[in-house]
Amino acid sequence: MSTPMLEIRNLHVRVEDKTILKGVDLVVPKGEVHAIMGRNGSGKSTLSYAIAGRDGYEITDGDILLDGQSIVEMEADERASAGLFLAFQYPIEIPGVATMTFLKAAMNAQRKSRGEEEMKTPEFMKAVRAAAGDLSIETDMLKRALNVGFSGGEKKRAEVLQMALLAPKMCILDETDSGLDIDALKVVSQGVNHLRAPKRSMLVITHYQRLLNHIVPDRVHVFSDGRIVKSGGKELALELEAEGYSAFDEAAA
Ligand SMILES: Nc1ncnc2c1ncn2[C@@H]1O[C@H](COP(=O)(O)OP(=O)(O)O)[C@@H](O)[C@H]1O
Ligand SMILES: [Mg+2]
Repeated sequence: MSTPMLEIRNLHVRVEDKTILKGVDLVVPKGEVHAIMGRNGSGKSTLSYAIAGRDGYEITDGDILLDGQSIVEMEADERASAGLFLAFQYPIEIPGVATMTFLKAAMNAQRKSRGEEEMKTPEFMKAVRAAAGDLSIETDMLKRALNVGFSGGEKKRAEVLQMALLAPKMCILDETDSGLDIDALKVVSQGVNHLRAPKRSMLVITHYQRLLNHIVPDRVHVFSDGRIVKSGGKELALELEAEGYSAFDEAAA
């Protein structure tokens, strides 16, 4: 068996003196899309932040391996350079910085830290147009300041485009249903489906089953009280929709 893209072993995470993750075990093989579902407050976002290396998320036990290499000692930007991408639940607004400029800076920061040459503007423009074309994204919005006054769908377009340009090995998408109108839902699912590749894996974190009608995952994991309490195929998402999360709570106790 080849090295999994992401392997999480017995992960315990503490946030401000409170243990939120209580032993997460998860293996995402290369090329697979896995979904994590769970009620609000179960620790899903804490998991994504701990993987991304956000400050304040202290790993007290366990390990996280990206393509066979432990990343827990790495800073967030080093993890990103190693091929990890986290799509934020609440996108940041950057007034005064055109989306295009932001994308170029993000891309070049990663290239630089990998010891690669920076991409010049013409080459970058070509890459953006190609990626935008693939994803059916209008490039007009890229002249506007990042996320400032963007609709839900536009925010997702900027995010998916960033994901396409950075070409990460492991993508984590943390989605609340409230942030996703029909347009945004379509953008995210088309983007994810388009970026599926044998050498790329994705973890889609969601509260509702609806997103998984469009992104059909290879595996579904149910999260409860800081742990995965059940794993199964895509049909598990339908089961959750029908029975609700409470049916899985006993498994966590
Ligand atoms: N910065 C924080 N400080 C203290 N508690 C937090 C913080 N962030 C999250 N929590 C707590 O951690 C738990 C899990 O939250 P979260 O990971 O956001 O869950 P989910 O994404 O599944 O809704 C909740 O009980 C929440 O109150
Ligand atoms: Mg969350």
